Amino acid sequence: MTVPHSTSPFTTSLRSHLAGSLRVADAGTKVRLGGWVHRSRNLGGIVFIDLRDREGIVQVSFGTDWSTAECIAQAAAVGVESVVMIEGMVVARTGETRNSEMGSGDVEVRATVIEVVGPAETPALPVARGKGEKLPSEELRLRHRYLDLRRPELQQSLILRHRLMQVTRRHLSERGYLELETPILTKPTPEGARDYLVPSRVHPGEFYALPQSPQIYKQLFMVSGFDRYFQIARCFRDEDLRADRQPEFTQIDIEASFVRSDDILALAQGLIGALWREAGHEIPAHFERMTYQVAMEKYGCDRPDLRYGLEIKDYTETFRGIEFGITQSALAAGGRVRGIVVPGASTWSRKQVDELEAIAKGAGALGLLRVKKAEGKYDGPIAKFLTPEAQSSLALEEGSLALFVAGADRITSPALDRVRQECAIRLGLVDETARRFLIVTDFPMFDRDPESGALGAVHHPFTAPNPADMTAFPDEPHRWRALAYDIVLNGLELGGGSIRTHDYATQSRMFALLGIGDRDEQERRFGFLLEGLRAGAPPHGGIAFGVDRIAMLLSGATSLRDVIAFPKTTTARALFEGAPTQVSADEMRALHLRPESA
Ligand code: AMO
Repeated sequence: MTVPHSTSPFTTSLRSHLAGSLRVADAGTKVRLGGWVHRSRNLGGIVFIDLRDREGIVQVSFGTDWSTAECIAQAAAVGVESVVMIEGMVVARTGETRNSEMGSGDVEVRATVIEVVGPAETPALPVARGKGEKLPSEELRLRHRYLDLRRPELQQSLILRHRLMQVTRRHLSERGYLELETPILTKPTPEGARDYLVPSRVHPGEFYALPQSPQIYKQLFMVSGFDRYFQIARCFRDEDLRADRQPEFTQIDIEASFVRSDDILALAQGLIGALWREAGHEIPAHFERMTYQVAMEKYGCDRPDLRYGLEIKDYTETFRGIEFGITQSALAAGGRVRGIVVPGASTWSRKQVDELEAIAKGAGALGLLRVKKAEGKYDGPIAKFLTPEAQSSLALEEGSLALFVAGADRITSPALDRVRQECAIRLGLVDETARRFLIVTDFPMFDRDPESGALGAVHHPFTAPNPADMTAFPDEPHRWRALAYDIVLNGLELGGGSIRTHDYATQSRMFALLGIGDRDEQERRFGFLLEGLRAGAPPHGGIAFGVDRIAMLLSGATSLRDVIAFPKTTTARALFEGAPTQVSADEMRALHLRPESA
């Protein structure tokens, strides 16, 4: 059969169309297709194969009216997940033979030729799934990732990820941003995690670090006058993993010169708008804004989920005169009593509230105090301590439950944040369709290690402190706010950035405040940035977005691993390739490393 040439960019010398792209308009067309056997059914005289490629699935039928007996027998014998090439004629399906769940469900291909070009062994896990059929374990799926990646859901997620990258490139390039690359073998860049180190063979005892982000390089591009930079950059951080963290992840990394925070935030909102539009959602042009201080006070965290209320309030005054040991000692130590009121939760059992207490304790609290109002009365372990004034100051509504944590803010905030999230889930308050974008500003420049008292950078050491605070409290750096901002959606940090320090003296002072006061040490660790700052640096700032997180949200996945082709497990293992892996004693010696047993 001669197959007419198609104009599709997918046409090759071996095939005419993508299987999943066939539609009624193609009826009557002769096609040559290549793809994977998704499913097959043998109904005696007629054999059906669902043929799958990245565009979708089409039904291919082999029947006595149009196929030879040999061709039917070949079709009946081919195993699932084998790669076949077929030739045939597209015909429209009629009536109930149509399948509205498949894009190409209005047609089928009546095949006259089948050739098995890539026979498959019995697959280690099924690619085709029936309705409601559970996925195999993630461990098995990651171990056989080449099969897992054949699943149409994963293919769609990675295709969406590709489209998001193209939109990013177009959006930024149209605005004058240059896509510039930075090294992977580099020097440690402090982003708060541990570095992955690579031993040098040629320089015994010396190591490269994989970049935690291209932070210093992008600042040097500004020093060099490139004015606007972006990169879709791979970053490496050896940190404890969670569902929203991978050791190796991708950022949309951006830096610009002669800017203030609002210039970067305007660009960031435009880019986020373009990405969400690509996935089919219109979002507000301007995001809500909140200072870090307000976020911490009302929500106990710097990336609050605004889809529900349950705000944290300060109940210190309510508890001040009350003879209750736990709150008294917390107040005496300079702490506060903070809490949330959960409407309708007075009916929760003791066990259910104990579970909340366990969550609070897991976040560092000593306990979770509780009082409820039921049938007009205050009830619960602390009810008997509450004076009439305390009760009227609490003013609980009938049926509600109040939960308190006493202590320093660094304890009460994370504990109440976790409790608030859990209560919202229990009460079904989380609207999965809502999108509450938020810009958080005015982060503190430093935080203090509670044990040693040492200052650490909240964002990173290159962030500029707010000049007004430096003037107002010259000797109290812990009171300085930073010119830093985060972009948050529904409790997830999508991106963060800052205006940078661009003069040498301030940057050197920041290092000193962070415990790197020695000039030689500063030069040794950050000389390549400091030299740049002494060479004439423009005011500059930037931001970086987590690509994996954005792709996860936009594809509806719940784990970063579903939008990364070859991800690591929560214990930082690559199960498919089998990394990390041991190396031979010879290889270690060549890198000047001593095997552990030596
Ligand atoms: P930051 O450390 O806030 O800033 O990172 C920016 C964004 O990257 C994403 N992200 C991660 N995604 C997956 N796995 C991880 N382990 C992970 N860590 C971070 C988040 C985060 O918001 N150089 C600065 C940016 C700047 O100042 O311009 C930086 O890296 O979405």
